[in-house]
Amino acid sequence: MSSHANSSGVNQTAPRRCLITGGAGFIGSHLAELLANRGDHVVIVDNLSTGRRSNLRNLPAGQHTFIHHSVRDALPRFRPGEFDEIYHLAAAVGVRLVIEKPIHTIETNVLESIDLLRFAAAASTPTLIASTSEVYGKGSRTPFSEDDDVVYGPTTLNRWSYACSKAIDEYLALAHHHEHGLPAVIVRFFNTVGPRQVGEYGMVLPRFVTAALHGQPLEVHGDGKQSRCFCDVRDSVQALPKMLASERCRGRVINLGDDKSIQIRDLAELVIKTLGSKSPIALVPYQEAFGKNFDDLRDRRPDLTRVRQLLGFAAKIPLVQTIRDLAAEIEASGAQTHKSPGPQADAQHGRPKASGAAGFRRSTVGRQGGDSRPLADEGLTPQARAPKGTP
Ligand SMILES: NC(=O)c1ccc[n+]([C@@H]2O[C@H](COP(=O)([O-])OP(=O)(O)OC[C@H]3O[C@@H](n4cnc5c(N)ncnc54)[C@H](O)[C@@H]3O)[C@@H](O)[C@H]2O)c1
Repeated sequence: MSSHANSSGVNQTAPRRCLITGGAGFIGSHLAELLANRGDHVVIVDNLSTGRRSNLRNLPAGQHTFIHHSVRDALPRFRPGEFDEIYHLAAAVGVRLVIEKPIHTIETNVLESIDLLRFAAAASTPTLIASTSEVYGKGSRTPFSEDDDVVYGPTTLNRWSYACSKAIDEYLALAHHHEHGLPAVIVRFFNTVGPRQVGEYGMVLPRFVTAALHGQPLEVHGDGKQSRCFCDVRDSVQALPKMLASERCRGRVINLGDDKSIQIRDLAELVIKTLGSKSPIALVPYQEAFGKNFDDLRDRRPDLTRVRQLLGFAAKIPLVQTIRDLAAEIEASGAQTHKSPGPQADAQHGRPKASGAAGFRRSTVGRQGGDSRPLADEGLTPQARAPKGTP
């Protein structure tokens, strides 16, 4: 096998065998394509709880293996050392899961990572752990820098279980690095957007794009002046193999995203303008959407100094391009899987039907789970109450 520079700029010995857990998900499927296109064989383990088999349709035949299992059930099939790289992206993601199924969230995000890291450590396989800017919690300093303190709410508000479960993953990966020399890298994704992202969990961009395409109001919460930074997934995934290839990234926590912030109301206007939509914008008070305990993070912006210094990373795809591509994909698929939930979904879950302007349901999750706050890092907004469609 010879050494060569590939399209992602990584010098490698080809072909490699890469394991991607959660590879049928939004980020994982883009990563799988990148790795397969550089000539690697990609083994994807995904239980399709939130991912879709159809996300893998562009993968070159013969260059991937799909295993429909949870991480824990799949790992015994493998021999330590049979992978050159491991990307652990499988997780319980989405405000509905986190609030309504906290045991599932905590167990998935912690127990499966324990097994995965033990497996990786047995052969010292370079391993990337997907974490989240949610780990910063309520930190008020902006931009968020990797070594900042983290601040969470009380344990009675299970909204924080997601952040804490991901923080445990970080501690564990760092512990394996320190105790066993595991070449581990932790990436804290900030809002990641792009094709294949679905609105079922309330991810703000696909929700806005879908509403704009249907001429429905784009629901913006509060005064819409809360800001976020959005990075196209096709930019983000470029950085992941480079992180694993770089000795300097090992044992590090690295923010990944874009740092150009946009207020959510401006995002809604940008979507409407970009798609030539006639949709109005509907401002919905936080209290109406979330109930009393609502506590949004006003601004969330990454400090990208580290990823720039280590990898020279810079996001390239403009937000308008992401909006256009997402709209094209939603239109091509008939938007069937991206539509907001209808009355049937409400009935299935025994909740009152929403009176939202766009036919979206209002949040009922907070009343059940004790905390109605959205997971702002993922761009989650309170309309995110539908169960995930059948994969
Ligand atoms: N999208 C974002 O903006 C964002 C932001 C921060 C962090 N992240 C992290 O990035 C990773 C990928 O997120 P995503 O946005 O692609 O979400 P996603 O839901 O599309 O991907 C997660 C995948 O993991 C799979 N999965 C869940 N539990 C599993 C299990 N026990 N075994 C096997 N597979 C399982 C799901 O079916 C899904 O395909 C996650 O770890 C998430 O926490 C994403």
